[in-house]
Amino acid sequence: MIYITGDTHGDRARFVENNMGDNEWTSDDYLIVCGDFTYVFRNNDSEKEFLDYLEKEKPYTICFCDGNHENFPAIFSYPEEEWNGGRIHRIRKNIFHLMRGQIFEIEGKKVFTFGGAYSMDRYKRKLGISYWNEELPSDTEYKETVKNLKEHDNKVDIIITHTAPREIIRRMGYYPDVHDMELTGFLEWIMYEVNFQNWYFGHWHTDDVFNNKRGMFTAVLFNVHKVE
Ligand SMILES: [Fe+2]
Repeated sequence: MIYITGDTHGDRARFVENNMGDNEWTSDDYLIVCGDFTYVFRNNDSEKEFLDYLEKEKPYTICFCDGNHENFPAIFSYPEEEWNGGRIHRIRKNIFHLMRGQIFEIEGKKVFTFGGAYSMDRYKRKLGISYWNEELPSDTEYKETVKNLKEHDNKVDIIITHTAPREIIRRMGYYPDVHDMELTGFLEWIMYEVNFQNWYFGHWHTDDVFNNKRGMFTAVLFNVHKVE
């Protein structure tokens, strides 16, 4: 089974207090976090010990697309591998980063991932310490994404992103940040060009559902959605 949740922000309680109901999950289960995973952030011993704990204690697979609150150089320092048809950074045996523009086959579903977003709170963050320029996608990543989607005839089952297409951001009552225009415009392009059923995203720190003629969009923070 695939379970999907939103920004975990390095909050250890999410994993140690059975908040997600994960005590029942087995080695056949997958948890996907829609960015702002943030358990690889300070990259210190305490974080590494917690990742070791998750590797040892959790039978299921934990994977995440990146958000904006991630330490990208630390994530990129882990080995890059191919997994289920897409590229990952393997952080632990059962914990990995789903790279941008990849299409994974998970439990018979095609899962497309595209992380990243602009940190709106940059004013209180420091470049290279608490935010990194890689939070926004590069031209190479956009180009590779278009190519990868084309190879799948622009058809997937599930889309996992951190932020959302512009139309959905407006539906939530927000305006896309001017610094995020390229990314949210790209996601809008995906919304129109790619066939999908369910699109899950984090970043906006809300649990809500929006429909339009293209599909169902689920904003996810604390909820855990089960994909049947
Ligand atoms: Fe967040």
